[in-house]
Amino acid sequence: MWLVAALLFALSSGAISLDKLNMCMDAKHHKVEPGPEGQLYRQCAPWKENACCTANTSEEAHDDHSYLYNFNWNHCGTMSSQCKRHFVQDTCFYECSPHLGPWIQKVDQSWRKERILDVPLCKEDCELWWNDCKNDLTCKTNWHTGWNWATGANECPSDSQCKKWTEFFPTPKDMCEKIWSNSYLHTDLDKTSGRCMQMWFTGPNPNKKVAEYYLQNAQQRHSFAPITLFLLAVSTFFVIMV
Ligand SMILES: *[C@@H]1O[C@H](CO)[C@@H](O)[C@H](O)[C@H]1NC(C)=O
Repeated sequence: MWLVAALLFALSSGAISLDKLNMCMDAKHHKVEPGPEGQLYRQCAPWKENACCTANTSEEAHDDHSYLYNFNWNHCGTMSSQCKRHFVQDTCFYECSPHLGPWIQKVDQSWRKERILDVPLCKEDCELWWNDCKNDLTCKTNWHTGWNWATGANECPSDSQCKKWTEFFPTPKDMCEKIWSNSYLHTDLDKTSGRCMQMWFTGPNPNKKVAEYYLQNAQQRHSFAPITLFLLAVSTFFVIMV
């Protein structure tokens, strides 16, 4: 009897972390479930073993004014290619990653039901991104809101001015945290730490272990799946019976 109870407890706690460890957020272009995508395009290819993005999304992620968000990177003149590659990678990471579970939050927005909040980004990824963009121009600190969408693509609002990147983002931390309204958290952790998420990687996805670490060690709000509740109820019943 105790064995059965213990087994059910183990199963139910496993169910808690399993769905958080391998899942897709409920957003504009994400698949319902992660899975293999053999045809992922260029910078999104690292996710091909297990992805929340389709091949179509991965290709669109590389285009200006793509149908994904119709986002205009060139709102203060043409964005340099060395800077833009980081935004492409950021798009791949956001659209394709199946291991963002610990940081997914419900949100009341017209274009998505869930978002990411405070994903701990590895220091190298944030600093390289900022370094490669610091000579570009922009007109805003938060790129999620406040644009003029009158033409169908985002343009600088009339009360703003194009200025050096560093006027809006003095440090890498300012950029990584503020640009997408705290989707990312700047950390002092490097890629070897196993405690931060990597936007750029080759080979097996290193972020699964990181998500696993945060699921087990950080206080996260668990969203109990129905199956989990069922297993917990059954195991509690067994414990009471014996
Ligand atoms: C992706 O799908 C959209 C919508 O179906 C389509 O308009 C677009 O052309 C496709 N893009 C590519 C690169 O296949």
